[in-house]
Amino acid sequence: MVDILLCGCGGKMGRVVAGLAAGRDDVRILAGIDVAQDKSQPFPVYATAAAFTGKADVIIDFSHPSGLAGLLEYAVSTRTPAVICTTGLTDAQIALIKRTAERIPVFFSANMSLGVNLLRALAVRAAQVLGGAYDIEILEEHHNQKVDAPSGTALMLADAIHSVLPQTHYVYDRSQKREKRDGHEIGISAIRGGTIVGEHTVIFAGHSEVLRLSHSAQSKELFAAGALRAAVFLHRQKPGLYDMNDLI
Ligand SMILES: NC(=O)c1ccc[n+]([C@@H]2O[C@H](COP(=O)([O-])OP(=O)(O)OC[C@H]3O[C@@H](n4cnc5c(N)ncnc54)[C@H](O)[C@@H]3O)[C@@H](O)[C@H]2O)c1
Repeated sequence: MVDILLCGCGGKMGRVVAGLAAGRDDVRILAGIDVAQDKSQPFPVYATAAAFTGKADVIIDFSHPSGLAGLLEYAVSTRTPAVICTTGLTDAQIALIKRTAERIPVFFSANMSLGVNLLRALAVRAAQVLGGAYDIEILEEHHNQKVDAPSGTALMLADAIHSVLPQTHYVYDRSQKREKRDGHEIGISAIRGGTIVGEHTVIFAGHSEVLRLSHSAQSKELFAAGALRAAVFLHRQKPGLYDMNDLI
């Protein structure tokens, strides 16, 4: 049994993780952390990790970037491996995650879905074959409650393509300049509306042909299932930084 401390337990993702965990016998939500107090959960909820005095095997975090530093400090001081799923992090916060992973096991992925991580691998392959000759654009669509844009997943896809095409640079907005795109751009566009769970398309537009690689998330459950899978994997690992590639 893997005991989990669930940060952001009162949020949309936190509730899906808790619901999924309740139906499994290999994981258990020992306690939750959430700045919004909620007595309806079947486990104790604390406002901060520091207020929790028990011992969990793994932390799963689906909360907000503002809580990251405190959560990682707690994880290091209690030697608790952490699965960080929160997105919208700054470069400094990502650097902090990497430094923390030198001391404890940390799993970090902007997208916990297996399919999206396969999409990333396919996009890298397409960039290696087509890059330079084809214009690359990434389109992401999410529900109207999402606060960060572009999505962490869109940036993850862009970064993966950039790793094999280092001459590329990102363009988020074409409204301020009246000039043609250059061949090294990766255009990144965000759409927000309704209850769209998450759509990501990587477009390779060439002369007379267009290749589109798309992933469609149909429910939040796939992210929750990925996070629980990561937690079970992580609690037996050595310190280091892990991601979905370690699970595929
Ligand atoms: N990696 C992935 O695959 C993946 C998938 C879905 C969502 N996400 C990310 O997970 C995060 C949460 O998503 P959501 O849809 O559940 O959001 P949400 O707004 O519904 O829930 C966030 C919860 O975190 C709580 N919270 C806010 N600040 C906190 C803090 N400092 N400490 C503790 N709790 C705090 C809020 O009270 C809320 O209950 C977002 O960053 C989202 O982009 C990642």
